[in-house]
Amino acid sequence: LAGRALSTATARHNISHVTVIGGGLMGSGIAQVAAGSQHKVVLCDVSQDVLDKTINRIETSLGRVAKKKFADDANGAKDFIAATMDNLSTSTDAVKTIGDGTDLVVEAIKEDLDLKKKVFAEYDAVAKDHTIFASNTSSLSIGKIAEATQRKDRFGGLHFFNPVPVMKLVEVIRISETSDETFQALKSFGEAVGKHVVVCKDTPGFIVNRLLVPYLLEAARMVERGDATIEDVDAAMKLGAGYPMGPFQLLDYVGLDTTAFIAQGWAEDYPEEPLFKPVNVIAEKVKEGKLGNKSGQGFYDYS
Ligand code: CAA
Ligand code: NAD
Repeated sequence: LAGRALSTATARHNISHVTVIGGGLMGSGIAQVAAGSQHKVVLCDVSQDVLDKTINRIETSLGRVAKKKFADDANGAKDFIAATMDNLSTSTDAVKTIGDGTDLVVEAIKEDLDLKKKVFAEYDAVAKDHTIFASNTSSLSIGKIAEATQRKDRFGGLHFFNPVPVMKLVEVIRISETSDETFQALKSFGEAVGKHVVVCKDTPGFIVNRLLVPYLLEAARMVERGDATIEDVDAAMKLGAGYPMGPFQLLDYVGLDTTAFIAQGWAEDYPEEPLFKPVNVIAEKVKEGKLGNKSGQGFYDYS
């Protein structure tokens, strides 16, 4: 183990094989854009049932992307979809997939520090020396997740946005140990999948969520106080501030469980910060299993 810890192995710059962990909202989108930009991708989740649903979601999304990208070229659209699906395979055995050899692991499982540390420790034990690890966490410290591994120099954050095939941004986060080569490789990968890359230190919420999450929580507090209705807050922010979705539509879209995990984690780490205080109306929905679009019900009904 000491040898591994001291390993001077450098990250290979050219990422061609990618392993995505978690086939939910984010993992499916990350796998899709990576496969659609000529990377070989293995998408891993806990069951074949989940993976089958994920592949259906990717096919639907690819159809929408292809329709736009190849508006007057039906054959081009067909070829693009076929080539993307050809680059994509699935597995319920992430440890084996990573042990067999991969250039980059992008983790997109539940927003839970202990769980993320647990899986990365398992992957670290089997991954080849050159493999880079990245987390798509919304709110957790990349440094704390990387603690579980002996490859902090080959560890960083790659934070995509929902829906990944549409949102043009990726935030790349480096920790103090991230090597220049790893950092460059992560930025190059972000560009290769067609995203605009911004760079941020390992601070809570990076750029987007540090601004967006307090806004979403504040909207929920406003409704909790009875100042305005959900529908009126959403209409106000769309029509009065030009947002594509109102905050309650976006809360449902992101997932109320994910937002609750973010707020809970930050409230524990920064108890003095009023902006991070969790909000009851969100916690109650999660308790009822109303997680937003993905469960069919949240602040709105999607069934
Ligand atoms: N896959 C592929 N294409 C999709 C898609 C998907 N999942 N979802 C939407 N699209 C495409 C549609 O096909 C459509 O394409 P055309 O313009 O060619 O018709 C286009 O996107 C617009 O979609 P719609 O007409 O269905 O609906 P819309 O105009 O309301 O746009 C939206 C949908 C892009 C999601 C838009 O509402 C939006 O930008 N919402 C805000 C999303 C946002 O803020 N995301 C960030 C969340 S925070 C986060 O991700 C970080 C975190 O850590 C929590
Ligand atoms: P999700 O609930 O849609 O999907 C999580 C997936 O991970 C599920 O399919 C689950 O079966 C799978 N999973 C759980 N444990 C696993 C394991 N040990 N191995 C393999 N797969 C496992 O969640 P999501 O919205 O895709 O979020 C995933 C991550 O991305 C979280 O860290 C979240 O904070 C972050 N994120 C979310 C959004 C968003 O808008 N939802 C945006 C950016 C980042």
